[in-house]
Amino acid sequence: MIEFIKKLPKAELHLHIEGSLEPELMFRLAQKNDIEIPYKNVDDVKKAYEFSNLQSFLDIYYAGAKVLITTEDFYDLTWDYILKCVKNNIIHTEIFFDPQTHTSRGISFETIIRGIKEALIDANSKFGITSQIIMCFLRHLSQDDALKTLDEALPFKDDIIGVGLDSSELGNPPSKFEDVFKKAEKEGFKLVAHAGEEADISYIYEALDLLHIHRMDHGVQSIKSDELMQRLKEEQIPLTVCPNSNIELKVFENYKEHNIKKLLDFGLNITVNSDDPAYFKGYLNQNFINLYENLELSKKDIIKLVKNSFNSSFISDELKHEYIKKVEEVVRLYKG
Ligand code: HPA
Ligand code: ZN
Repeated sequence: MIEFIKKLPKAELHLHIEGSLEPELMFRLAQKNDIEIPYKNVDDVKKAYEFSNLQSFLDIYYAGAKVLITTEDFYDLTWDYILKCVKNNIIHTEIFFDPQTHTSRGISFETIIRGIKEALIDANSKFGITSQIIMCFLRHLSQDDALKTLDEALPFKDDIIGVGLDSSELGNPPSKFEDVFKKAEKEGFKLVAHAGEEADISYIYEALDLLHIHRMDHGVQSIKSDELMQRLKEEQIPLTVCPNSNIELKVFENYKEHNIKKLLDFGLNITVNSDDPAYFKGYLNQNFINLYENLELSKKDIIKLVKNSFNSSFISDELKHEYIKKVEEVVRLYKG
């Protein structure tokens, strides 16, 4: 089964590119750019990656991102993730980036997007990997700041498929960003938002009813309302669930407590993703393997999760069919 999981072609829909910054690259860039980081060596970094909740992670995640300065740095960051895609058999990926984390340090929007985009172009020509870019607004900042960021993004509209909402969830509900999402919708961007990771279901309702999201990031708190579960099932809103992340950030006490199998069995449109793999002990395959080993996911469950990711992605129907066929080829190879 583990061999089967590894061989399955996959799509990833919830991946923060800054969260794929491995300690080795962090050190190299810190040295090159003369940026101070609060760690002596890679072991030291790994020891610091013990989180008690979302905020305790975000503090460390934003500190790490400070080593990213030039277009080349963003290229290298993205390229390292692409090499992980190759290892994990990820053939399509939709990448989040947090422009405000960098523009607030004086890095231009163009520097960031060019580095990411050039690596994705090379990923396509070298490995045939397809991709999209989604920019996230930091919800701990103001809506005005988000509106300014949306304006900065408009010259690069062709390179950005959608907008999202991430960072500190508690105390920063989706309603705070209604205007900026309305504007992004008018501009033709796809809409996603982190909702119901730590916060209650009112955040999920707001993301659906006020922001009009096409896809929900995390959403695992939905299980607390039968009515919401029914609605998500009927509307088949995709949920990008990130199991390792939920365990590392103590959303669930341990893997056996994770509710992904219950969500899937209820009939929700569930996908598996790695969120911030450099911080959460593993890339996409490891998330699937952990689920398989702890929650007794069947082969059928795994195939469903993988197909859901392609079907919930922002690619053409034609490409979806092509990718689903690739999944089915591997399923046939591993029959029995
Ligand atoms: N939640 C909110 N913000 C984030 C996350 C997350 O899981 N990862 C990176 N930014
Ligand atoms: Zn996330």
